[in-house]
Amino acid sequence: MDKTFYIETFGCQMNAHDSEKVVGVLLEKGYREVETPQDASYIFYNTCSIRDKAEQKVFHRLDTFKRESGKGKVFGVLGCVAQQEGEKIFARAPHVSLVAGSASYSKLPQMLVRLEAGEKRVTGLKFDEQEAFETPFARRDNPYRAYLTIIEGCDKSCAYCVVPFTRGPERSRTSHSVIAEARQLADSGYTEIQLLGQNVNSYRDPSPAAWDFATLLARVGEIPGLRRVRFTTSHPRDFVKDIIDAIDQTPTLCNHVHLPVQSGSTSVLAAMQRQYTLEEYMLRIDWIKKARRNIAITTDIIVGFPGETERDFADTLNLLDTVEYDSLFNFKYSPRPNTAARSMADPIPEAEIARRHVILQEHQRAIQIRCSSLLVGAVEEVHVEGRNKALNQWIGRTSTNRTLNFTHPETDRDLVGTYLPVQVTRAGPNSLVGAAALDGSESIPRVV
Ligand code: 5AD
Ligand code: SF4
Repeated sequence: MDKTFYIETFGCQMNAHDSEKVVGVLLEKGYREVETPQDASYIFYNTCSIRDKAEQKVFHRLDTFKRESGKGKVFGVLGCVAQQEGEKIFARAPHVSLVAGSASYSKLPQMLVRLEAGEKRVTGLKFDEQEAFETPFARRDNPYRAYLTIIEGCDKSCAYCVVPFTRGPERSRTSHSVIAEARQLADSGYTEIQLLGQNVNSYRDPSPAAWDFATLLARVGEIPGLRRVRFTTSHPRDFVKDIIDAIDQTPTLCNHVHLPVQSGSTSVLAAMQRQYTLEEYMLRIDWIKKARRNIAITTDIIVGFPGETERDFADTLNLLDTVEYDSLFNFKYSPRPNTAARSMADPIPEAEIARRHVILQEHQRAIQIRCSSLLVGAVEEVHVEGRNKALNQWIGRTSTNRTLNFTHPETDRDLVGTYLPVQVTRAGPNSLVGAAALDGSESIPRVV
């Protein structure tokens, strides 16, 4: 069997980064990544189980591919579905030989050796306290922007969520190792770092230095060579004002906070076991809005949680009007295994969940159209991420995490990875359009 592998990733940024670690660890052991599952001996799916749809997608993929051209190949299910379903996966998809959760990626080569030695089925499902968060081999997909895990797992117990089960208890990295890794990334040319954690702001340095999240954030932001530092996802309960002060005082920290609220109704928040009231959440919003910097706020909302009344739903719509989020992720409630909400009374019918989902989507769209239009004429610094040749546009991202597609007179220069001032000329609900802000004397914008 040759050592070729193909990996497909589902789900969040944590999963995307886990796949980068898996790829790096396997390349280090002499495996070779290929572009299509057809060309691979090993096919890995790094899976997401946050909602039922995501999980079904994985089983569907496993089935179709097996029927089409999966003969003689080894299939591995990694990540959250692996952790959640464990050995049951072998019964549901008998052609799978490997089932391994996210904490096991560093042990993957040993597991493959066992399969190569003839074992039929191998699992890696333990949460190892000594696990390595990062590996020097992580093969990052983007040469300018790097993910960096600072905390794994989750100690909260939101009534709808599988994550505490699939990613295990909270484990923070030492501040020393985070800083060392961030320095190394800066030294090797990365200018943007995104600190990752399921609840990134619950970070607690286990070393004697005992830094809190705000301190770690500010110190990462001071590393020479870094231009932008982001972090995701924050939990409102652990969101302290020091984080906003750090953003105000550290120019590299981006003007963006993702602060999932889930619902605008205090009684739904209580049923969800979110550990904050709407008032407490609004206090955090107030800190962010009063910051010296103009910080964009984004959120996650779940509609149709069991027991959500019309009144509760109206409270959520009101919250959108009050906060005017820059954007949001709107999810239909999906009952998950091992969660408290699964057996809660008063489930909302699917059609009603779908109706609320559409209403909320449209409500937010109108807000985004209104708020984005205020940006026309502004000059924003973008980090250039790519190019849309068909439209003759470059694709950039603002510090506030908005996509800004822009034109530039120099067509033969590669701008990807640079930072440029761009003037916004048009604003849609989800992205902006602009033109490089050239300062009269030069034809090429200043690369700041
Ligand atoms: N149903 C719907 N949405 C969910 N999320 C988490 N669990 C569920 C579920 N069971 C959403 C939350 C969370 C985001 C990552 O996914 O909004 O913030
Ligand atoms: Fe899930 Fe809640 Fe933990 Fe977020 S804080 S990962 S929603 S349990």
